[in-house]
This record gives sequence, C-alpha cells and structure tokens, in this order.
Amino acid sequence: MMNEKLDLLFNRCPVIPVAVIRSLDEALPMLTALQKGGVMAVEITFRTSCAADAIKLASKQFPDMIIGAGTILNRTQAEEALEAGASFLVSPGLSTEVAELCAEKNISYLPGCVTPTEIMQAISLGLSVVKFFPADVYGGLSAIKALSAPFGSIRFMPTGGVDFSNLKEFLACDAVAAVGGSFILKGDIEENCRKLSTILADRKEDTK
Ligand code: 3PG
Repeated sequence: MMNEKLDLLFNRCPVIPVAVIRSLDEALPMLTALQKGGVMAVEITFRTSCAADAIKLASKQFPDMIIGAGTILNRTQAEEALEAGASFLVSPGLSTEVAELCAEKNISYLPGCVTPTEIMQAISLGLSVVKFFPADVYGGLSAIKALSAPFGSIRFMPTGGVDFSNLKEFLACDAVAAVGGSFILKGDIEENCRKLSTILADRKEDTK
C-alpha cells in the first residue's frame, strides 16, 4: 500500500521540490506557481516554525497536490506533520521511530540512506524507496548505481546538489525513483516548471 502511494506520487511527479517556507505568505504564491506549472508535489521542510501551518494551509487550499513534510527528525515532528495533513514524510537520515509511526498510519516514508548498512536497516523496516542525501557529497549517480547492484529492490530519491544541469542524467537511471531539490523553487518557478515539463516529455519519448 505504501509503495503504491509512492508509485502514484512519482508517476505524477518524479521531481519533488524541497521548500523552506519562512512565512505563510510565501506558501500560496509558491504552490500556485507549482500547480500552474504541473508540479503536483512538494516537500515542506520542518526547518521553520511555520512548517506545520504551511502544510495545513497547503493541504486545504491545494487538495489536488501531494503535500509532504521534510526534515522530519523525530516522532514528535512526524506526528505534528501528519496532523497538519502531510501525506508523505522525508528525513535527512533514517529514524526507526518515524518509520514505525508511518507504518502504523500507512504513510509513505523516505528516510535518508547513503550507506549499505542504512539501506539494510531501511529494508528491514519494510521500506523500498530511500532519499539519497546529500547526493552530490555521497557520490551522486555512480554511488547510486554501485549500491543498486546488491540492493536491486531499492530505489533512490537523490537530493542535495540536483539541478537542471544533472537532472536528466539522474532521471535516466532505473534505480532513481524521483529526485528532490530546491532548484525548482529558485528564481521564476513557472519558468522552471516549463523547463521541467520539457525534460520530462523528452524522457517519455526516449523510453517509448
Ligand atoms: C535540502 O535538504 O535542503 C535539500 O536536500 C535540497 O538540497 P538542494 O538545495 O541542493 O536542492
């Protein structure tokens, strides 16, 4: 079930913008631009005091979008994010308590895993997609390819250092389920979304 939800999320949008929202006023224009641009998911990070309120607002005003919470460090934040309406949770590392809560609530969880040991922990918690963070520091695509040899059932969401210069390469890798990053939210969001749609459309053509 959890995997089906993730598949749905990544089929709809294999690029998850990572948002740090400093004031609630920023949330509406950002989400409106993403929605207009066809980017249907966003990860709102728990790095600011208004994160939970931003998730609440986003879930209410953008019911067609998939609103997740990021930078979830512990069970308390996870509970707060779920109460606010988050439909998936992301952590920079792997938290067993967050994974267990998500399993109880049937919510998708993407923990940060970059080593074989962390990936084995994720597998033992029943997870099949992990965040690979910070992707540029931990070996990028070549590390993901090497890790997918022993861990063929695991897919990765590289995040950290992903941008328009390397996006195509990441998305072309079978072991990459989606990418995360702030690059979509930098500068003109609608223009970035247009650029992204072109890349995604080319990718579909290439895989035909
Ligand atoms: C983060 O945690 O800030 C995200 O991984 C985004 O990284 P980026 O800004 O390099 O996309």
